[in-house]
Amino acid sequence: MVTKVERPGAQEWVPEGADVEQLREAATSCHGCELWEPATQVVFSAGSPTARLALVGEQPGDQEDQRGIPFVGPAGRLLQKAVAEAGIDLATTYVTNAVKHFRFTQTAPGTRRIHASPDVGHITACRPWLAAELVQVDPDVVVCLGATAAKALLPKDFRVTKHRGTLFTLPTSRGEKTFLGTIHPSAVLRTPEAERDAAYAALVADLRVAGSALR
Ligand code: URA
Ligand code: SF4
Repeated sequence: MVTKVERPGAQEWVPEGADVEQLREAATSCHGCELWEPATQVVFSAGSPTARLALVGEQPGDQEDQRGIPFVGPAGRLLQKAVAEAGIDLATTYVTNAVKHFRFTQTAPGTRRIHASPDVGHITACRPWLAAELVQVDPDVVVCLGATAAKALLPKDFRVTKHRGTLFTLPTSRGEKTFLGTIHPSAVLRTPEAERDAAYAALVADLRVAGSALR
């Protein structure tokens, strides 16, 4: 039997005009989609609420879910290294995810939780949080890490493989902003070893392009 999933979306939990700290607090009670229930906690954002550069990932992973902080697992460590190598001071960035709860599959309680990509319904449901935080932070440059973040923020025809690493401007409620899409750091980790260094270097190169838009 297929049960219909009720997804009211996050909007009714998003307080109007709230700053990042108030959004973070409000997100702890979000039931905008079903992902809140099996997850440990909501993972909101990290970094500076006055950042000029925002980095948007997919969703928290296993470690992020347990600690409540984005990008603290293996992909996060790779991202931190890449950001630094691209000449960007991580302390001046705002880091968040398109989806705020960890989606996973698990065969039995206590067994390893396997990452499951959020689908379009989750991205849409969670988008009011992302929209509200980006309005508050008001960064000049937004980097979408991977296809999920791109789906949340970039035009429908954007393809990471085809359009990565190029800056473009899009209208937002806070005026024109610069966007760039690139691969997700976990895609680098999944790349076969022989090509991993090149995949990492390409991520750094894309981040460098994003950083160049700040100067
Ligand atoms: N991958 C993401 O996209 N975000 C995180 O916070 C961790 C891993
Ligand atoms: Fe709310 Fe987003 Fe979590 Fe779904 S994933 S419950 S919309 S915070």
